[in-house]
Amino acid sequence: MNDIYSAFTGNIPENYDRYLGPMFFHDCAEDLAARIAGGEPEKVLEIAAGTGIATRYLRDHLPARVHITASDLNDAMLKHAEKKFSESENIRFQVADAMALPFEDQHFDLVACQFGIMFCPDKVQFFQQARRVLAPGGRLLFSIWDSLEHNPLPRTTNEILAEFFDGDVPAFLQVPFSYHDQEQIRNDMEQAGFSDIQFETQQGQCVFAEPTQAALGMVTGSPLRLEIEQRGDTAIDDVVDKVAADLKTTFGERDCRAPMRWTVISTRREE
Ligand SMILES: C[S@@+](CC[C@H](N)C(=O)[O-])C[C@H]1O[C@@H](n2cnc3c(N)ncnc32)[C@H](O)[C@@H]1O
Repeated sequence: MNDIYSAFTGNIPENYDRYLGPMFFHDCAEDLAARIAGGEPEKVLEIAAGTGIATRYLRDHLPARVHITASDLNDAMLKHAEKKFSESENIRFQVADAMALPFEDQHFDLVACQFGIMFCPDKVQFFQQARRVLAPGGRLLFSIWDSLEHNPLPRTTNEILAEFFDGDVPAFLQVPFSYHDQEQIRNDMEQAGFSDIQFETQQGQCVFAEPTQAALGMVTGSPLRLEIEQRGDTAIDDVVDKVAADLKTTFGERDCRAPMRWTVISTRREE
């Protein structure tokens, strides 16, 4: 996997949070936080917390005494997250690679990760690390996007990009939608020592006021921006304009909606 696919840096956090957050992440985060709160955890680790979208819902769903550690590979994402919380909210922010977690064995009774594992080149290592930091009986809950087939907004965007770049399409948008084969995920989790794994596929709606917002989110709020900039021959604004103009054809000019599908996966470390 290209290293820049996990580089949510520079002004990506701001655009991610502003444009992609409401379109793709808030509803899923609220759903995940409600599931987590039902298990009444006391020490929660969030992996790949990004700009703190799920962290906000976790904080609001869990009693104030519950310790939350929000971690992410990219300091720029966490810095953006940190601004959303007051010191009294009992959240520790820590830069951490999911594949080499800097936490003690068996320290947490819940590990959560919303739409982060796809960016980790070694999925088994992700699960091994999550299991290592979980106390016996502790739960792991994480979410993944289903394939592009079931997520028409990014699929259509990829098609527009393929046309714009004359077939030599930047590959970033494939990455978030690349880890959805349930048999593969189960195998990876079993290799890391988990058993009793549940999958729950969710259907929702991606809502955006107008196509320019969706285009700004996908092109400038993700490492797709870096991938295009690396090529050096295309202005980002031209890509945003092209994507926005063509998205109109499929999703309309105002109050746009597209189906989205994701899966929440849960398991428990054995007692
Ligand atoms: C699509 S965002 C999801 C952020 C957040 N969970 C949310 O729901 O808004 C993916 C996140 O994974 C982080 N990430 C990528 N590779 C990672 C790694 N190896 N370890 C930890 N975080 C990683 C990125 O920095 C980014 O914040």
